[in-house]
Amino acid sequence: MDKSKYKCDKCKDMLFILDNDEATPCSCRSIRIAEDLLKKSGISEAFKEKSFENFNYKVDYQILDAYTKAKTYAQDIIINFKQNKRALTKESSIIFMGQVCSGKTHLSMAIANSLLNKGISVIYMPFRDIITQVKQNMLDEEYYRKTIDRYKNARILLIDDLFKGNITKSDINIMFEIINYRYLNKLPMIISTECTKDMLLNIDEALGSRIIEMSKDHIIELRGKKLNYRIYS
Ligand SMILES: Nc1ncnc2c1ncn2[C@@H]1O[C@H](COP(=O)(O)OP(=O)(O)O)[C@@H](O)[C@H]1O
Ligand SMILES: [Mg+2]
Ligand SMILES: [Zn+2]
Repeated sequence: MDKSKYKCDKCKDMLFILDNDEATPCSCRSIRIAEDLLKKSGISEAFKEKSFENFNYKVDYQILDAYTKAKTYAQDIIINFKQNKRALTKESSIIFMGQVCSGKTHLSMAIANSLLNKGISVIYMPFRDIITQVKQNMLDEEYYRKTIDRYKNARILLIDDLFKGNITKSDINIMFEIINYRYLNKLPMIISTECTKDMLLNIDEALGSRIIEMSKDHIIELRGKKLNYRIYS
């Protein structure tokens, strides 16, 4: 028998089933939407696997606390979107700070993946890579605008390793444009960074204080080498 050219034979990939002019959503619809959002998110293959299920929270009380806050945060965002409260509060971001290799990216991705599974769009921004690309293409006005707009307007923005490396004035200006826009429009961010609160404020007080205000109820600072997963695992 020929293999079907459709992913779903029930709806022939229309995502709806037509019956007497009435369209009902096909059972494949939510899966397809999630797949599509994942593709658009820019989340790479290795990160798709990171979840709450494969995160070990039993290693330290700080890790348990980070895990609990991350999971609660994801649930709250999902409830909020279900109720169609698109305008979230200004404080609806979350930030994981501090210790290298303590699971900051893992938990950020676990949140992102659970939101994507529920049909909520998340855009992934690996800080160092994107900032380098943007600066290399500074003269290409259209590229610049398109890239910056993608991160400004993302429903949820995941910034990984914010301010890693040597930070220049132009890095700060680019991030200010994105983050200030999100601040004014109450658009949530999931941030991971090796900086502490003080380091963020020292890099740029205007930007640092906005980030801290936006993450007010979800600031997770991980402290101590004992939290390095590569050491204890
Ligand atoms: N508590 C944990 N349970 C399971 N895997 C973990 C845990 N903490 C870290 N890891 C894994 O260790 C590696 C480094 O963690 P990562 O989240 O990238 O650290 P960070 O972003 O804090 O530097 C990743 O592969 C991650 O999946
Ligand atoms: Mg990381
Ligand atoms: Zn279908």
